[in-house]
Parts: sequence; C-alpha cells; structure tokens
Amino acid sequence: MKMFTVFKALAVVGILSATLGNAQVAQAASDEDAIKFRKTVMKGVGGTMGGLKMVVQGKADMANAAALANTMAAYASITGGLFPKDSDFGDTRAKEDIWAKPAEFKAAVMAFEKAAENLAKVAAGGNADALKGAFGGLGKSCGGCHKPFRKPKT
Ligand code: HEC
Repeated sequence: MKMFTVFKALAVVGILSATLGNAQVAQAASDEDAIKFRKTVMKGVGGTMGGLKMVVQGKADMANAAALANTMAAYASITGGLFPKDSDFGDTRAKEDIWAKPAEFKAAVMAFEKAAENLAKVAAGGNADALKGAFGGLGKSCGGCHKPFRKPKT
C-alpha cells in the first residue's frame, strides 16, 4: 500500500515535470513568434508609411490618403501589445528600456496613436497641406519611439 503511494507520488512528479517541460518549450516558441509578429506588423507600418509619403509627395492619388491613414491608426492601436515580456531577446532590435521604462514607452505608443488618429481625421478632409503637416507629425512619432527604444541595425 505504502509502496503504491510512493509510485503514485513519483508518477505525479513525472507528469508535472513533463508538463512543465512542455510549457517551457511552448513559451520559447511563443517568444519567437512574438518577435516575428512584431517585426511583421512593423513592416506593415513601414509600407503604409511609404504609401502615405507618395500621396503627400503627389506621386499617388489623394483619394488613397484616408484608407492609408485609417490603416495606420489601426496599426497604432495594436502597437502597445507587440511588446510582451520575454520578447526582449533573440532576433530583435527592441531595447531593454521598453520593459525597464514602461511609462516612457507607453508615452511613445500613445504619441503614435494620437498622431495616427490626427492623420486619419485630416485625411478625411482631403486638404493636401493639412495632410502634409499631419504626416510630418506622424513621422516624428516613429522617431520618438525608434530613437530611445530601437537598437541600430547590426
Ligand atoms: C512605440 C514604439 C514604436 C513606434 C511608435 C514605431 N515603431 Fe517601428 N519599431 C519599433 C521597434 C522596437 C522596432 C524593432 C522591432 C524588433 O526588431 O523586434 C521597430 C521596427 C520597425 C521597422 C523594421 C521592421 C523589421 O524588422 O523589418 C520598421 C520598418 C518600422 N519600425 C517602421 C515604423 C514606422 C514607419 C513608424 C511610424 C509610423 C513606427 N515604426 C513606429 C518601435 C516602434
């Protein structure tokens, strides 16, 4: 009877450690995915920015401005969620300060959201000069995060 209890206890320990092991593996994979997802979304942000730039420069039709600006605002709204804990190491240019200085980082995210929302509002109006100004403000918000929180290219 006693022996059986010991076996049972050992079995439980075995199951537990196997489960924990798997959880760790799953965690490692999801950290990598978090980094990959962040970079994928940021590439979309970059592409959208490129499209807006062409509109501002008069190389693409003004009629595209609102859709691009709304897309940018949607990207901005998910940017804060692209930086889960533990996505700070690996193939990433994200700086440790993102997690070490959460208030500053949050302010950078909010500045992005605000600038993108402003652009969306302005784009709906269809005024080229106003669009140019709002586009400049948006560009500043990219730098406002990249400068303090993104490592230079290696
Ligand atoms: C709140 C912070 C923040 C804001 C705002 C932000 N970015 Fe980023 N961006 C980052 C970080 C951090 C990285 C590095 C991500 C990594 O390597 O894991 C990055 C990476 C990128 C990349 C490279 C993606 C790749 O790996 O190929 C591009 C392009 C980019 N951002 C464009 C922009 C543009 C354009 C804006 C503004 C419209 C912007 N970002 C706003 C933080 C930000």
